[in-house]
Amino acid sequence: MKKTHQNKFGKKGWTPERLKDLTGKTYLITGANTGAGFQAAKILLHKGATVIMLNRNEEKSKKAINDLKEQLGTNANVSFIKMDLAALSSVRNAATEVMETLPKIDALICNAAIAQVPKQLFTADGFESQLGVNHYGHFLLCALLYERIEESQGRIVVVGSEGYKMGIKTIQFDDMNWDKNYHPMNTYCHSKLAQIMFAYELQERIKANNKNVKVYVCHPGASATSLIKNNGGLRDRIIFKLMSLTPLVQSAEKGAYPEVMCATEENLNQKAYYGPTGKMQWTGPVGECKLEPFVFDRDIASKLWTDSVNKTGQKFPF
Ligand SMILES: NC(=O)c1ccc[n+]([C@@H]2O[C@H](COP(=O)([O-])OP(=O)(O)OC[C@H]3O[C@@H](n4cnc5c(N)ncnc54)[C@H](OP(=O)(O)O)[C@@H]3O)[C@@H](O)[C@H]2O)c1
Repeated sequence: MKKTHQNKFGKKGWTPERLKDLTGKTYLITGANTGAGFQAAKILLHKGATVIMLNRNEEKSKKAINDLKEQLGTNANVSFIKMDLAALSSVRNAATEVMETLPKIDALICNAAIAQVPKQLFTADGFESQLGVNHYGHFLLCALLYERIEESQGRIVVVGSEGYKMGIKTIQFDDMNWDKNYHPMNTYCHSKLAQIMFAYELQERIKANNKNVKVYVCHPGASATSLIKNNGGLRDRIIFKLMSLTPLVQSAEKGAYPEVMCATEENLNQKAYYGPTGKMQWTGPVGECKLEPFVFDRDIASKLWTDSVNKTGQKFPF
């Protein structure tokens, strides 16, 4: 792939070496008990930030917190709030707890996801599981926390995927549940495209309403996390395991750099897409990546917005 952007962070790209002291800053990360979210939490905590994980599993969350405190010291300011993105009621409860307990949100990092789920499953509210967890759950969370983020002059970071351009490359409005053509990969790609299109549409609506929240989109390239191991079918699990033994796949820690950068770095262009810029944009120095123009189709994005408001029963406060 021809590179179109020079890396503004130099040859090594963005790395956590650029981080300043983050004492007093508060970051919310969804799905932070493992993978890129866990590594992002670790990097932010190491710089003195407060991190609240929004995780679905209590046991895994307690273990993650113990591991982080063991590695960083007992002063590490990390806690968790239980939230299952596969149930709108759970997202609402978690958001209420956040609003009641957190006076400030410097960034909400929408990191959690499921991927390549082998067969059509549904969330508690009857949505196809990948779209339900990855997009509708996060849409609702962002809407419910928006005001606190606005008051904090904070940011929303949406963790996308290169998969956005590997599926049907549009939103399947006539069959959002994929009743007719369910396909583990295409349906995952659909959910990640929905997340990315939502993010750019949110930028537009924030601008049109003279609001102050910044929205960034990134992706972790190909990173050795539990994403495929936990969700994918046997064939996909074997393929990814074998790929993870090659230089095509990077560490989960490196996979966390783009989301940490988007949560902290000043003067980033919002209408951009950040991640590894090397081979196929799967690994390599973190910077601005090439992005396909169809993600900016505002007719589709507006339709998706209306659909998401209808499905979640929640508007943004503007
Ligand atoms: N790894 C890659 O190569 C790759 C490539 C492209 C994009 N991404 C994106 O990177 C992000 C991070 O993924 P990862 O690779 O770090 O995967 P991961 O290791 O599987 O972590 C995913 C996290 O999401 C959580 N999660 C899943 N379903 C949830 C739900 N219903 N409610 C709340 N949390 C839920 C998981 O919790 P449990 O531990 O309880 O399951 C876990 O904490 C995702 O947005 C993914 O789409 C990853």
